[in-house]
Amino acid sequence: MKHIQKYILLLSICFVLMVTSCQQPGGNTTGSEFMPDMGHSIAYEANYYNYYYNNTWGSEDEYYEYAKPRMPVAGTMPRGSGGVAVKESVAFTLNGSAPYYYADTEEGRAAAMAEIIDNPYPITEAGLAKGKKLYDIFCSTCHGEKADGLGYLVRDDGGVYPVQPAILNTDEFIAATNGRYYHSIMKGRNLMGSYADKISYEERWQVIHYIRSLQAKEKKLEYNQYVNTLNNVDRPAGDIAVVVEADHDSDNDQEGHHDDHDHNSEHGVGDHHDVHDSDDHDDDSH
Ligand code: HEC
Repeated sequence: MKHIQKYILLLSICFVLMVTSCQQPGGNTTGSEFMPDMGHSIAYEANYYNYYYNNTWGSEDEYYEYAKPRMPVAGTMPRGSGGVAVKESVAFTLNGSAPYYYADTEEGRAAAMAEIIDNPYPITEAGLAKGKKLYDIFCSTCHGEKADGLGYLVRDDGGVYPVQPAILNTDEFIAATNGRYYHSIMKGRNLMGSYADKISYEERWQVIHYIRSLQAKEKKLEYNQYVNTLNNVDRPAGDIAVVVEADHDSDNDQEGHHDDHDHNSEHGVGDHHDVHDSDDHDDDSH
């Protein structure tokens, strides 16, 4: 009999605990939780202090210390600040996007022109072919197939397009640094919009190579995988077997489809490359 009483007492304590422990939120109560630190992680927001009152990890002061912005690790540099490529190596990013920190201002443009000198990719036939394809899609409508500023918007509509697009095969533009081109693609220029979200990091550089090759053509000079008599900045790749490229299309690259950037409906809108490619380029402008 005594035992049974004990059991009943124990059971009712358990029952009361069960009913009260996981109390549902509602009305004016937020409910109560046991071990809230298992249910909620302290999700630190960068540069933002919001004390978590259930914090059990340390004192409020310690919490505050963690929430404070910290100094970058010594010897590191912010992503994208390495916009100036090293001559010996090919700089590329794994997902095809690279942040760009030059502002869309005259100062930003001047800095980009002064600091971005080298094209991180060597000149290759494959790159020039890719550049041509993209240039013909995205640039030639205004700048012309020959970079002579006579795209069909300017040429064929009786001058309705309000301004003359830059004539890219002139001495001025031949002498211009690669930064002038890269900055124009990233930020646009006056009536020209940005193409940062249309073509990826590597594609921008291949387009610039292709523009250089058009300039060489105009001057009857050479600009290809083996020779560059146009300038002494861009490096011909020479006899390299495999060109190292940003392989961000790796899942459908196997059959050499790398060039299929069908932003234009060359292969029809339903082509799965369309979908895939536009994903790739989303975050390029950061
Ligand atoms: C819709 C027309 C249009 C398209 C498409 C276009 N541009 Fe332009 N672009 C212009 C115009 C107009 C200017 C001249 C802007 C000015 O100087 O006021 C210009 C200027 C430029 C300049 C010179 C900027 C400077 O520093 O003076 C470069 C380089 C350039 N474009 C590259 C490109 C590239 C590369 C593409 C393709 C990715 C492209 N443009 C696509 C219209 C266009």
